[in-house]
Amino acid sequence: MSADATGAAASAPAVNPNAPTSETVLDVEHYTDRLFRFRITRPMSFRFRSGEFVMIGLPKEDGKPLLRAYSVASPAWDEELEFYSIKVPDGPLTSRLCNIEPGDKVLLAKKPTGTLVLDALLPGKRLYMFSTGTGFAPFASLVRDPDTYERYDEVIVTHTCREVAELAYSRNLVESLVNDPLVGEMVEGKLRLYTSVTREPHEHTGRITDLIESGKLFADLGVPGLDPATDRAMICGSMAMIQDTKALMIKAGLNEGSNASPAEFVIEKAFAG
Ligand code: A2P
Repeated sequence: MSADATGAAASAPAVNPNAPTSETVLDVEHYTDRLFRFRITRPMSFRFRSGEFVMIGLPKEDGKPLLRAYSVASPAWDEELEFYSIKVPDGPLTSRLCNIEPGDKVLLAKKPTGTLVLDALLPGKRLYMFSTGTGFAPFASLVRDPDTYERYDEVIVTHTCREVAELAYSRNLVESLVNDPLVGEMVEGKLRLYTSVTREPHEHTGRITDLIESGKLFADLGVPGLDPATDRAMICGSMAMIQDTKALMIKAGLNEGSNASPAEFVIEKAFAG
């Protein structure tokens, strides 16, 4: 090594290879005073599997990053990254994040991870994705991924919210998929969105757990009840919703899977605040 090279290395500032990258906001859409989605640039080196989550955030006034786990709502093949977020008025991150506009910067961590991935499930016939609130986000990724339709004959996504207005993101997205150049033909006759609302009138009302337990969900869809031989499930919502829905999967004879040991159902293990 030359003297020059040694000197340059010694004086170079320490660079943390795992530090978040600064990405540009491309698009923001607000649905209600509590919900919005946004899209940011995707670095070439950022790889993830549809359904995974990653830490994203904003710099704090003291310069340190304020990061929270967010499911990536766009599919793995997309050139941009999409996120679906709640707005909490006194939330340290979301109270500021909800004001972002195109051109602003958002921090993106380097290592996505997660259990809501197709690889953590055994092959099957019918895939259920049970979601409440912003828990729909990882499924917004998976319903846009051709792999989902290559692996399952039937894909049933459920989304339960307190109010009808909170269903806008899932309904718009699923409706638009028939015109999607990549999965448009695959979703026809295969993908179904079942929405329910708990605090005002709607076509279907009640918590997803009650709809599973009573059998109403299956009757409405015209499918048999849960069967570990054919059915697989992914669950994403609040901690309580995940635990209660998980208990119903176990009662139906489905086992929890992971990346290391795929089985019949998986649950989300990250929470955005
Ligand atoms: P509910 O209105 O009966 O509380 P939240 O915004 O609180 O996460 O709720 C989103 C949706 O999830 C609401 O429709 C809510 O119903 C429902 N929910 C809340 N807790 C559970 C639970 N433990 N199991 C199933 N659904 C739940």
